[in-house]
Amino acid sequence: MDFWKQFKPGFTILAPMEGVTDIAFRQVIAKAARPEIFYTEFTNVNSYASEKGRHNALERLQFEPEEQPIIAQIWGTRPEMIIETANAVKELGYQAVDLNMGCPDRHVVATGGGSGIIRTPEVAVEAIRAAKTSGLPVSVKTRLGYTYVDEWCDWLTTLLKEHPAALTVHLRTKKEMSKVPAHYELIPEIVALKNELSPETKLIINGDIKSAADAQKFVEQGADGIMIGRGVFQNPFCFEKAPKEHSKEELLDLMRYHLDLYEKYSLYPYDPLKHFYKIYINNFPGASDLRAKLMMTKSIAEAREIIDQL
Ligand SMILES: Cc1cc2nc3c(=O)[nH]c(=O)nc-3n(C[C@H](O)[C@H](O)[C@H](O)COP(=O)(O)O)c2cc1C
Repeated sequence: MDFWKQFKPGFTILAPMEGVTDIAFRQVIAKAARPEIFYTEFTNVNSYASEKGRHNALERLQFEPEEQPIIAQIWGTRPEMIIETANAVKELGYQAVDLNMGCPDRHVVATGGGSGIIRTPEVAVEAIRAAKTSGLPVSVKTRLGYTYVDEWCDWLTTLLKEHPAALTVHLRTKKEMSKVPAHYELIPEIVALKNELSPETKLIINGDIKSAADAQKFVEQGADGIMIGRGVFQNPFCFEKAPKEHSKEELLDLMRYHLDLYEKYSLYPYDPLKHFYKIYINNFPGASDLRAKLMMTKSIAEAREIIDQL
């Protein structure tokens, strides 16, 4: 089966987010309103290829069969390690692999990976070719450029000439981080370039999209799918095709589910879990006091007790 062909125009994706879209949170979003595709957080190929890092890499690559279709996202620059990790990803049961070429984190960029790879297009080309040897469909997630918006044409040309199965474009440069609005005005030109160089590549638009209900708008401009990241923080139900209001009880149920899954998969320590509470404890009377109380908790059991008292 051709993995990417199964999705109809307007398909939606939960963006890969380091420290967020782990096995527990992906299942929370699946319960709230499911996107067509999940991505894992990114995994460093150097980490997988080293004895010390492998355990951690495998932990982030764990998924449940019900999460399919799910794509493993990896990053790195060394072809031999990309090959090793992409093969492992295949062994684990993934049907597709994505290469991160957009992360702006300075530690990642310092290694030449993430968005750093935009400055060495020949390394990016090698990375794609290396990942393809796994036999999995290879997609790329990237930004418009490193420093200037007008780098987009050369950079995306380099990538499209490698015929990735899909290309996700976060419509900003590395330098812009997430500080300026996404450059939606470039969509028609990017679509035209893609159609000229690699019409079979699925084009996925990313940046500031808040709702799956907006997918059609991008399809009309020639995109194939959309990817939502931070939108889930404001509304965990954002993948609903027909958005509706949700009650406080529904939000609390989602939070309970998250607590259960965090325990089930032993995703310790506890403190990072607290960052998620604002997603659920939001937009209802008393939410901010309740959040403050939850921030003082030291365990899942304590948090559960507080919300069960409501
Ligand atoms: C906390 C956080 C972690 C992220 N981690 C990743 C990652 O692991 N891989 C990746 O390709 N992008 C990562 N991103 C970028 C998002 O996938 C997405 O491209 C970006 O947030 C823009 O989309 P949005 O406006 O819908 O949030 C991360 C973003 C955030 C906010």
